[in-house]
Amino acid sequence: MSLLQVKDLSISFGGVKAVDGVSFEVKAGEVFTLVGPNGAGKSTIFNLISRLYEPSAGQIIFDGQDITGLPAHDVAGLGIARTFQNIELFDHSSVLQNLLIGRHCRRQTRWFEELLFLPKVRRSEREQRLLVEEVIDFLDLAPYRDKLIAGLPYGVRKVVEIARALASEPKLILLDEPASGLSVEETQNMAWWIEDMQKDLGLTVLMVEHDMSLVSRVSDRVLAVAEGHPLAMGTAAEVQANPKVIEAYLGTEATS
Ligand SMILES: Nc1ncnc2c1ncn2[C@@H]1O[C@H](COP(=O)(O)OP(=O)(O)OP(=O)(O)O)[C@@H](O)[C@H]1O
Ligand SMILES: [Mg+2]
Repeated sequence: MSLLQVKDLSISFGGVKAVDGVSFEVKAGEVFTLVGPNGAGKSTIFNLISRLYEPSAGQIIFDGQDITGLPAHDVAGLGIARTFQNIELFDHSSVLQNLLIGRHCRRQTRWFEELLFLPKVRRSEREQRLLVEEVIDFLDLAPYRDKLIAGLPYGVRKVVEIARALASEPKLILLDEPASGLSVEETQNMAWWIEDMQKDLGLTVLMVEHDMSLVSRVSDRVLAVAEGHPLAMGTAAEVQANPKVIEAYLGTEATS
């Protein structure tokens, strides 16, 4: 069964078609990866799915529901979480505080109940904390839980961003270049986290990634895009061997 269906999605910026008629389906429980040269439109597809951008055409169906017209916070509440290519965390807050912010879309209490700090609010806070602590354990972040983001190494901040996304209890997690800027060892760990998210947490993962060894290792299916167009779909090996994909990469190398 498809958890996410993207149908004929398009968006232009100043006359440039960044995404042009892209369609794909992500099945529940799979790791589905978008690859393609720089500027292909991969992050834009993420921004369209997470409803930061308004498509000029097309439809996004999540869990059987048309989410094309919904605001971004409603989409988070339905179970889509994401990380950003350029990590977006609150630098002057702790890991724990960032994760509690990540849970905000799951809070059941109203502002006036919070203002009065009713028993319901205290109970809710305890529950939020428990879940966040589980995420901290899952991603081995215990040594960093009370540290400020600003002082953490880059590789740890990448993991905290994933933790923040997991704290919202998503069904689908969008990872935009989870391994960019990571060392070989950190990339290895990232592969384990992604496998654990799929196998232990039962999550569906939609990823954008350039590191083809990571892509080959964790992806069930891969879609290559270039200049906003879908080029080829299949296993990582099939897509890498596709002449259109090879040509698209060679084209960008020749011009860069
Ligand atoms: N907000 C925006 N305003 C104007 N142009 C944009 C905007 N967002 C994306 N673009 C353009 O859309 C195209 C696709 O960009 P996008 O960031 O989606 O590429 P990408 O595939 O994620 O590339 P990379 O691998 O470098 O991250 C590029 O030409 C980019 O300049
Ligand atoms: Mg990008």
